[in-house]
Formats: sequence, C-alpha cells, structure tokens
Amino acid sequence: MLLELFSGIGAAGLAWGGPVAAAVDQNPHANTTYALNHGLRPKAWNLEAVSAAQLAAFGATRWWMSPPCQPYTVRGARRDLDDPRARPLLRLLPILAELRPPVVAMENVPGFVVSAMRGELRATLIGAGYTLHERLACPTALGVPMRRQRYYLTARLRGDGRHRSELGGSAPIAPLRPLGGYLDAAPDPGAYLPEATVRGYGHSAHIVDADDPAAVATCFTSAYGRSPVRAGSYVRDAGGVRTFSPEEILRLLGFPGSFHFPEVLPRSVRFDLAGNSLSLDAVRAALAEA
Ligand SMILES: C[S@@+](CC[C@H](N)C(=O)[O-])C[C@H]1O[C@@H](n2cnc3c(N)ncnc32)[C@H](O)[C@@H]1O
Repeated sequence: MLLELFSGIGAAGLAWGGPVAAAVDQNPHANTTYALNHGLRPKAWNLEAVSAAQLAAFGATRWWMSPPCQPYTVRGARRDLDDPRARPLLRLLPILAELRPPVVAMENVPGFVVSAMRGELRATLIGAGYTLHERLACPTALGVPMRRQRYYLTARLRGDGRHRSELGGSAPIAPLRPLGGYLDAAPDPGAYLPEATVRGYGHSAHIVDADDPAAVATCFTSAYGRSPVRAGSYVRDAGGVRTFSPEEILRLLGFPGSFHFPEVLPRSVRFDLAGNSLSLDAVRAALAEA
C-alpha cells in the first residue's frame, strides 16, 4: 500500500498502479482533481504540522514524497532550509526515523542535489537503517520528447547498506518519439499568440515545430501560461505559435487519456497543477526497484 504525500494530482499513485492507502495535500484544486480521477479524497492536511500517529494510522508500506521544489530552484532564490516551504519535509524527517516504513521514495528538482536539505534527508534515512539509491533521470532518456530532469531517491530498509548515487544523468535507453503524437487533434483557437507577442518574445521563448520529429519541449513549470519565458516551450503548427494545452503537458508526463480536470477548473489552475506534477515513466522506474 502506497502513502502519497504532497500528492498533487496523483502522478505517483497512477505510476504505482497498486492500492493507495491515503494521499495528503493542502491544495484544494489538486485534491478535487485527485478525487475525480482516483476515487479517493486526499487529506487536506498541512504536512508542516502532521503527527507520526496520523501517518502511522494509514499502515502504508511505501511512502512517496513530492515536496515543494522552490527552496532548491533559482526562481525560488535557493533559500534551502531557510525557505518556509522546506518545513513540511523537515517535519517528516523525524517521523520517518520513528515509523521506518519499509520503502521511502522521493522526487525533486536537480537543485536538490546540492542542498543542505538533501544532507539532512540522507543523514536521517541512513541513521534509521535505510539503503539509498539516488539518481537524476529525464523522460527524454525513455524516448519522451520533453525535458524534465529530476532527482529521484529510493530508500529501502532491507537493503545491503551499499548506497548508490548516480547523479550524472541517464543515458538514452529508448529512441525519441515524435512530439506530434502528443499534440491535440483540434488545438484551442484561444491558445495562439498574437503575432506581436511572438515577435516580442520570439528570441527568448523556446518554440518547437509540431512536425519536427526531433523536437523536444523544455520542462513545463507551474508558471506556464503566466510567465512567457523559461516556463515551458511553445509549439508552431499550421495555425501559428501557441501554448501547449494542459492536456498535452499531461500526455507528455505519461498520464492516461482518461485523466481529466474538473470542468470548472480554469486553464491557469490546470497549468499550475500539470506543471507541478511528475513524469509517470520516471516515477515508475523509481518505484520498480522499491
Ligand atoms: C511538486 S508538487 C507535487 C505534485 C504531485 N506529485 C503530482 O503528481 O501532482 C508539491 C505539492 O505539495 C503540496 N504542498 C506544499 N506544501 C504543503 C504542505 N505544507 N502540506 C501539504 N501539502 C503541501 C502542494 O499543494 C503541491 O501539490
């Protein structure tokens, strides 16, 4: 049974494919989307104030954690342990050491590798008897035409004590699939950018061609749709240059076609939720060894 902490829209539960004991997230839009697609309502708890007893009650043997990444990004000023958004993970460390679930897995941005928080996490888990496997992985290595390099940790209680860190990135193991296969058949007419915007941002925005078989989109962040640069690629097709739709981003992340947002959820919120989520292929690889 999986316990999905910082569950968002539930990428880890989907990738796991097995029973989910419980999910926890404080974002109401994420929780509504999660409930609609997974038939389980996440606990709307603030993990900064959670107790060991509350989490122990779920009886889960595998814990997945996707804590906020802003403390370890340039955009978030890399405040690391001093960032208030690091507090929920800090709160979980003594709980992990006390409850010692058999498997703990986690995902974060590459900047986590050089953080003091990673040092705290490693020290806690190793001190509690876990064997760690850390690596950097990107869906492009699995043939997905979208970059999303992330740090993955798998920690097992019954390991051999030989910790592995593969933080040099992963070599491709599958040929690149064409981006066109991930795009909407009928793009939203409202997604096209005015010509003046394309001219204004054209040099700094990353634009991929819909029919280029070698096209690779950049990482989509939760700021996509709000910040015109460094938040994700744009796509040029027969209609002009447009934003990717939230559904296209989910497809690139490996979500099933049946996954859907609540009708009432605005596009900006959908971008926020999709941009915060995970590559199912990469999570599957991390959980496969757990
Ligand atoms: C990087 S996202 C994880 C996304 C998720 N893995 C998914 O598949 O969508 C981080 C999540 O942590 C949640 N979060 C941040 N701080 C929290 C806290 N103190 N307590 C509970 N949830 C929190 C956010 O609402 C957000 O959904």
